[in-house]
Amino acid sequence: MKKTTYQKMTNKDKELLDAAEKSIENAYSPYSNFMVGAALLTDNNQIIVGSNVENIAYGATICAERSAISKANTQGLRNFSKIAVIGKGSDKKYNEIVSPCGCCRQVISEFAKISKTNITVIMSNPKKNRVIISTIKELLPLAFK
Ligand code: THU
Repeated sequence: MKKTTYQKMTNKDKELLDAAEKSIENAYSPYSNFMVGAALLTDNNQIIVGSNVENIAYGATICAERSAISKANTQGLRNFSKIAVIGKGSDKKYNEIVSPCGCCRQVISEFAKISKTNITVIMSNPKKNRVIISTIKELLPLAFK
């Protein structure tokens, strides 16, 4: 787990985080008002984005990370090396770094197994001046598989 900032990141990681940030625009989050964007880097160097999709039945909400994974899957893409996630919201508590929920960690973990890669997870605060770079194994040790 490494604490960093946007400035110190590699160009490829910056590109991935920027794509996640851009995807915030398409978040559908009228219930929480927290907009999240995620971006996956595939092993053939494609970037696939996702944003959160909420529902009035709150439990039916799909997080940005799983939205990106579903989108990639529909394009036949299942091998990933990295995922970036960032969120923005009106509430003060949403000024923090976004880290994937437990459910998303489990799903990322499955695709890490498929990809035979310990997927890198890049997590940012809205301003991108506080970023944590970790791995899925670190975020979900002893995953069920
Ligand atoms: N959310 C994500 O999309 N990804 C995360 O990593 C954390 C939470 C969404 C779910 C819900 O739409 C909103 O953020 C508030 O929890």
